[in-house]
Formats: sequence, structure tokens, C-alpha cells
Amino acid sequence: MVNWLKDAVFYEIYPQSFYDTNADGIGDIPGITQKLGYVQGLGCNALWLNPCFDSPFKDAGYDVRDYKKVAPRYGTNEDLKALFAAAHARGMHVLLDLVPGHTSEEHAWFKASSAPEKNDLSGRYIWTDSWIENGDGMPFIAGEAARCGTYVLNFFKCQPALNYGYGRCRRPWQQPITGPDAMATRDAIWDVMRFWLDAGCDGFRVDMADSLVKNDTPQKRYTCAVWRDLSARLKRHAPEAVMVSEWNHPAQSLKAGFDMDFMLDWQGNGYSWLVRNYDGATEGVPKNIGKAYFCKDSTTDITKFLDDWLPSYEASRKHGLYCLITGNHDTLRISAGLDEAERRLAFATLFTLPGAPFLYYGDEIGMRYQNLPTKEGGYNRTGSRTPMQWDQSANLGFSAAPAEKLYLPVDPAPDAPTVAAQEDDPGSLLGTVRSILAFRHSRPALAADAPFAVEYAEKGRRAFAWRRGRGRGALLCAVNPAGTACDVPLASLPHRMEPVFRLGGEPTVKNAAITLPPQSFAVFALD
Ligand code: GLC
Ligand code: CA
Repeated sequence: MVNWLKDAVFYEIYPQSFYDTNADGIGDIPGITQKLGYVQGLGCNALWLNPCFDSPFKDAGYDVRDYKKVAPRYGTNEDLKALFAAAHARGMHVLLDLVPGHTSEEHAWFKASSAPEKNDLSGRYIWTDSWIENGDGMPFIAGEAARCGTYVLNFFKCQPALNYGYGRCRRPWQQPITGPDAMATRDAIWDVMRFWLDAGCDGFRVDMADSLVKNDTPQKRYTCAVWRDLSARLKRHAPEAVMVSEWNHPAQSLKAGFDMDFMLDWQGNGYSWLVRNYDGATEGVPKNIGKAYFCKDSTTDITKFLDDWLPSYEASRKHGLYCLITGNHDTLRISAGLDEAERRLAFATLFTLPGAPFLYYGDEIGMRYQNLPTKEGGYNRTGSRTPMQWDQSANLGFSAAPAEKLYLPVDPAPDAPTVAAQEDDPGSLLGTVRSILAFRHSRPALAADAPFAVEYAEKGRRAFAWRRGRGRGALLCAVNPAGTACDVPLASLPHRMEPVFRLGGEPTVKNAAITLPPQSFAVFALD
């Protein structure tokens, strides 16, 4: 594994909502550069930027019109290169968002591909061979193009699927992954990757990474083959660069060459039981709140999470990292389901489990989910994408533009949390996040790839304890999310029972058990 990943903690930035430096109401790249000190001060040493490329923004930039050009609303390519340089000067790394599965329908490749005359780009997207043909199980668009064919979509209507070929070809218009057009698409996306690596980026978060090859096997054999090729090219060209996949299947993605995969908050999976557990992930209003593991009055135990996470972690740990998130631009904010006391324990746990954690901008100060009409294809995701709240000045310090010109409104609540209000208070949520991350960086046993073992997890019991590291420096972490004290029975107790880190009350030790006070987290040295 690339060395810098071992100690990496990522901060996800939605560029339109982070910091506006030219008073046009929208966040920009120079704004991110200006705030690097803040991000580093949190304990985050790496960034993931959501797409910042030229786009008609029908899906907030996940509909790329020009892969090699920064969207003018965020600045210029030179601004982005300056951000890479400023980050590197601080020892930080920057991942861009690569959207390889589709482009905007306004991309020049798609325009050429739509032409009735055959040309070099006719096969860049997945086209059927007749205006009346269906997409063989994939969503498709008919009647739009001069070309006599229909085309397959990867996500929204504005996002035609790039052609990486088919696992099993059933129709004459389907090519194998080694077909000439599919190979040309692969080369074209590699050309985009190389362009940004050469400009100084440190790798990519890869959008819908599992979606490339159609009619794939359940094990995604053909999509994995494409990624093995692309990741090998990346490692040859830039050995220190990394990729994290939006896939949620590390046994597939990491073996296909990704350095990291995300555990996503899929409805009803172990992760949503941990910190979200809302039904109706596609609706604006979260329901079923109160049953997540970290909810004080929940009856959920940690096995709901472990039953899902542990087998995937075990199956993939030798190949890379399975990463936990506080949230992202597609999820409801973590504050929608957990109150502040609950979130402190959730953060402490997420930041001490294996993998490189990803902190979504604003979660560290407790930004709230806003009920807003959809913006740029956001739908219920829009409420998690509002401007960062810096201080009490106009627009909460995000922008000097008139409020009605902002990309999205800022939180109108009189007690909207801000960085300035928490900055100097070690007891604030921001202060807590900083102290957990500082502790993490100070302990090699908490490195992303350091050993992990469950020490205590029982059905019907609320406490959870796990070990990190091995031998000298090994640590025992324990959390009790419940409103009452809980025992953690342990066969072998640490010699030194003073916690080396804790949130909440002081734990006590007696009769081969650690008693954790209500809503507390503690770490003990095991050597
Ligand atoms: C991913 C992105 C999401 C986007 C979709 C289509 O899931 O995270 O925001 O809408 O892909 O690109
Ligand atoms: Ca701006």
C-alpha cells in the first residue's frame, strides 16, 4: 500500500459550497486553497473534491462536458494546479472525482457520436443499431439523435453511457471489452487520468466504478478486468497516486486494483444501522430515526454493523482499505439521525476503526440537513449540499454576494453552527473532532491498515470493544452508546487501566470487566 495512505484522513469538499472568494455566490477553487489551513488544523491531510469540471450541471457536475477543463464558475486549470501545489507544500494530498461511466450529453464526444455519418467516435457510447431498438435491459433514449439508433443511459437522462463493452454480448451492437471501440474508450479515460496526474493531482475518487461494463457477471469479472488495466497504468505512471471506488464491494474493487473502497450508507445495510438507519433514503424526510446503533435510546447492537462490515473487511484487508464515511454529497447529513452527543461517539468510532476515514465538509461543526427544493439534480441530496458555515458575518462567512445570489441558501437557524463559534472551545464538536484525529495520528496502532480484532460484541448488548495494532503500542477501544452504564467483559485486561483517550465519563475496572459510563468512549493501552 502507498505509504501516505496509512495515516490519511480525507475531507470531502463540495466545491460549489465551500468558500466563495469572488462574491459570485458560488464556492471556488481559490476558496479551497485559502481554507487548506483550516482543513489541516482539523487533522485531515487529504482532500476529495467533487467534480469541478466544465459541465451543464444537470447532476451537479457528474455530467462532465469537458474532462480537461475546470468549470469557469470554480476558476481555471491554473487555480486547480495552484491548489495541488499549496496542498503538497503542506504535505497534503488531493483526489479529483473521476466520472468514467458517462459524460454529459453536451460532451463533444457525444455530439460526434450522435452524428448519422460514421466517424471515430461513433462507438464511444453504447448505441443500438436501430431507432426502434430497446436498450437490452438498460434505460435508453430514443428519438433524440440524427443517428439511426437509440443510446443507453448510465444514470440521469443527461448521462449517456460510455462504451467499455459487454461481459456477455447478446445483440449485434454489443462489443466485448476488448473490442476496438471499448478499448478506445479505455484509452480515452486513461488520457484524462494522465492529464490530471501530470497536473499534480494525487489520484481519484471514481464515480460508479462498478458500472463500466454492461451485462457483466455477478462478480463483475469484466469491469474488474478493465480496472486492473487502468489501475496498472496509473501505478506505472504515478506510483504514489491512489484511487478510491464508489463500489461498496471491496472484495471486488480492491482486487481489481483500487487502493480503497467506500462502505456506503445503503439502505438497511450494516452502515446505515450504525449511524443512519432511516427508511426512505430517496425521500426528503428521514424516517425510522432513533434505531441506529449510536442513538442513545436505540436497542440496536453492534452486530447489525459487524455482520455486514466484518466479512468484507476480512476478505479485502490484504488488498487495500475499506473506508468509512461520516456522510457524503449523496446522503442525508449525519446530524439528521444523531444528536451531537451521539455523533461524538460515532466520530470516535468511525475514526478508530480500520481504513482511511472520510469526513464530509461541515459534519465536524454539526451542519444540519436543510429541507430545500432540488438544485442541479440534487433532489433530497440538496439539503446536504448547503454552504459551509464559517462565522456570524453575512451568509455565515461563505460569500460576500447578496444572499439571493448564493448557490444554495445558508442554514437560516439563529443557532446555526459555525467554525468561529467552536474554534476556541475544545469541548465543542469541532474541538472533539480535532482531538480524536490528533490522537489517531499520534498512534501507529490506529493507522488505516493496522491490525483489527473484535474484543467484545454481543447480541442484545450495547457496548462494543475492539483492538487495534498488535504487540507494542496495541490499543483497546471501547464505546457505550447507551444512556446507562454498560459492562465490557474481557478475558485479558490491559495492565494499565488509565484510558489514554476518552470521551464522556471515567470508565472503571472490576471483576474482569470494564464498566463504561453512559454515552462514553475510551481507549486503553494494551502493552
Ligand atoms: C454517484 C455520485 C452521484 C451522482 C451519480 C451519477 O453516485 O456520487 O452524486 O449523481 O454517481 O454520476
Ligand atoms: Ca466564487
